[in-house]
Amino acid sequence: MDRLRGRVALVTGGAKGLGRAIALLFAREGANVAVVDLDIAEARKVADEIRGIGREAVAARADVGDPDQVTQAFQQAVGAVGDVQILVNNAGIDSTSVVAEMPLEMWDEMIRINLRSIFLCTRAVLPRMIRNHYGRIINISSQLAHKGAREMAHYSAAKAGVIAFTRSLAYEVAEHNITVNAIAPGPLDTELFRKLPESWRANKLKEVPLHRPGTVDEIAPTALLLASDDGGYYLGSTLNPNGGDVMV
Ligand SMILES: NC(=O)c1ccc[n+]([C@@H]2O[C@H](COP(=O)([O-])OP(=O)(O)OC[C@H]3O[C@@H](n4cnc5c(N)ncnc54)[C@H](O)[C@@H]3O)[C@@H](O)[C@H]2O)c1
Repeated sequence: MDRLRGRVALVTGGAKGLGRAIALLFAREGANVAVVDLDIAEARKVADEIRGIGREAVAARADVGDPDQVTQAFQQAVGAVGDVQILVNNAGIDSTSVVAEMPLEMWDEMIRINLRSIFLCTRAVLPRMIRNHYGRIINISSQLAHKGAREMAHYSAAKAGVIAFTRSLAYEVAEHNITVNAIAPGPLDTELFRKLPESWRANKLKEVPLHRPGTVDEIAPTALLLASDDGGYYLGSTLNPNGGDVMV
């Protein structure tokens, strides 16, 4: 308990699914939390839950793929809870199409929200992390970054980019006492996975040795490890809670 006492965390996509679970777990461990999401109504509910736990919280609306919206929301967050010490780049989308029929817009939107956003949100917090000589950045990738999947080339490419970004940034900022790591979960029982075509989900769960999706509460503790002092020696790593889908 209290592994993040007094820390300030910002979780993108914190209104629902994995981001919500991470935001609430961090709050239970003592952090004040900013929840940044497109869905401001749900983000406000999570912020209320965090205040109910006794921590400070703020909800801010942003499309994390949009530079101006990121700047504005992050300024709002810092104004309310203070400089961000722990950033969780979690917001993401999915969609399916074989490459031969994929519209350019689908490709571009995937890269914008699942990869460009990681750069934008990280860039928004880094100057103060460097000045404060402390930071923890946790990027949510996917096991598809390692394995790929039919109809998910755009998603897999974006998530593989997240891992490469994580490693490269880790080299740059280690000297400032900032760690950067990624988590590459297997299929999770969230809206994002439930929206996928039934046949895609059934095939995926056949491949996973545990034959079930993970729960968000089975993944959030990995983020806590990377955010807390216990995880201080992880740098540029990708942790893989994935039900055995990729054994790395
Ligand atoms: N669910 C899975 O099977 C699975 C597996 C591996 C990795 N992941 C990754 O985990 C992360 C969280 O996914 P989830 O399953 O909790 O999804 P989810 O759909 O349950 O939640 C995603 C959250 O992100 C927000 N969001 C989406 N686009 C946004 C944008 N442009 N700007 C701001 N907020 C935005 C949504 O409003 C929502 O609150 C994503 O990066 C996803 O790719 C999910």
